[in-house]
Amino acid sequence: MKVALIGTGFVGVTAAVVYASFGNQVIGLDIDQSKIDSLNKGKVPFYEPKLVELLASGLASGNLKFTTSYQEAISDADVVIVAVGTPSASDGAIDLSYIAASVSQAAPYLKDGAVLVIKSTVLPGTLAQVKTIVNNLTDKQIHFAALPEFLKEGTAVDDTLYPDRVVIGVENKAAFKILEELHAPFKAPILCVKPESAQLAKYASNNYLALRIVYANALAEICENSEADIDEVIEAMGYEKRIGNHYWYPGLGYGGSCFPKDVKALAHFCQDNHMATNLFSAINELNEKRPVQVLDKISRVVEGFAGKKIAILGLSFKPNTDDQREAPALAVIPRLLNDGAAQVSAYDPMVKKIVSEEIAKNKNYQQTETLAEAVKGADLIIALIEWPQIVGFDFATTKEEKQQFFFDARSQFEMKRMQDLGYIYLGIGQKF
Ligand code: UGA
Repeated sequence: MKVALIGTGFVGVTAAVVYASFGNQVIGLDIDQSKIDSLNKGKVPFYEPKLVELLASGLASGNLKFTTSYQEAISDADVVIVAVGTPSASDGAIDLSYIAASVSQAAPYLKDGAVLVIKSTVLPGTLAQVKTIVNNLTDKQIHFAALPEFLKEGTAVDDTLYPDRVVIGVENKAAFKILEELHAPFKAPILCVKPESAQLAKYASNNYLALRIVYANALAEICENSEADIDEVIEAMGYEKRIGNHYWYPGLGYGGSCFPKDVKALAHFCQDNHMATNLFSAINELNEKRPVQVLDKISRVVEGFAGKKIAILGLSFKPNTDDQREAPALAVIPRLLNDGAAQVSAYDPMVKKIVSEEIAKNKNYQQTETLAEAVKGADLIIALIEWPQIVGFDFATTKEEKQQFFFDARSQFEMKRMQDLGYIYLGIGQKF
């Protein structure tokens, strides 16, 4: 099948290489020439495990190429998949300008019978807007569909190759048949639903997962104020089949490019529609408060951050990615610097430059090549992200004589082991 992918971010590139790996003729399209040049040379402009290898085999097989030309990508495509960004506007609404721009440019080149698929995360109702734009620009008969994406950064390739389900939102059987055939090699349950249900299912899944994290954090706070241990509580809950033991670890709140934006989008939808309750707004608020509450508490325990040397371990929003969007470090570091920390030394195995200019230019901030350099002389170590290089590090080799606090923001370290090494261990969900 001939497939065009519009947008070469995480979702677009991953989908392109995976569809090509199943023998489809795939063209990835982006307006950014330098991105297209690197992709055609086999270079991925962001870090994602396994992607470079699959890109190389796609390019070598001749099934995959990238272009900036709408005409080249769209004219012959049976399926055109839009995977451009839908960022949050300042009021939490989603910004549909990239979708509008890309479908407007694609419309004149769409062939008769093509399926135009919106993969980007959009609210129910958006397909009607897309249809209006496209039908005003072409007389051809086009099918419209929604195909939400459920991949996670860091495991994008495997999530795409082995999805839990493929949700196809269509208005007619013909479009479903084409998309069903395209997804047959995935060996996953394929659901045929209304486009609006597909779109909401995506938000519903992300918001539910975000809610679980907020819930785990609320429980952690109860544990911090009682004798209960959060890891034990979560383990005990996880045996319940209706609950399950995955996706439960507490921390400083969820981050990344999806959850914060998708929770805000539903909150905005409820507000816009004058709905009586707005659970999503509460989820967002609780998550935003979380780092502040935890840092207030740590500050009390260490008697203020002023004058302290503090090590930050982990700058990405989670392990196995160099993505810093809504990373906890971006909330934590400014707070430490504003409170007068003498030095903040940060280490990340993958992120070599923090995205915030303001942090980067602060004279009390530095980034180190190694973890050992970051923790040297630290009064307080904050292990923010559960990178294997951080969790697996032997802190016995760097423990110093002086009093050192160790804050385990992801509940990854064994309290007793850290205490035996001499650290004053502060754990999420532990009484301190
Ligand atoms: C998320 C969803 O998990 C994907 O299914 C979805 O396709 C994607 O958004 C998207 O909409 O594109 P992602 O943002 O890559 O994927 O990352 P997750 O691994 O889900 O983590 C999100 C945030 O929650 C991170 O800040 C992570 O550290 C945090 N988290 C995750 C917790 O705090 N606790 C957990 O138990 C799990």
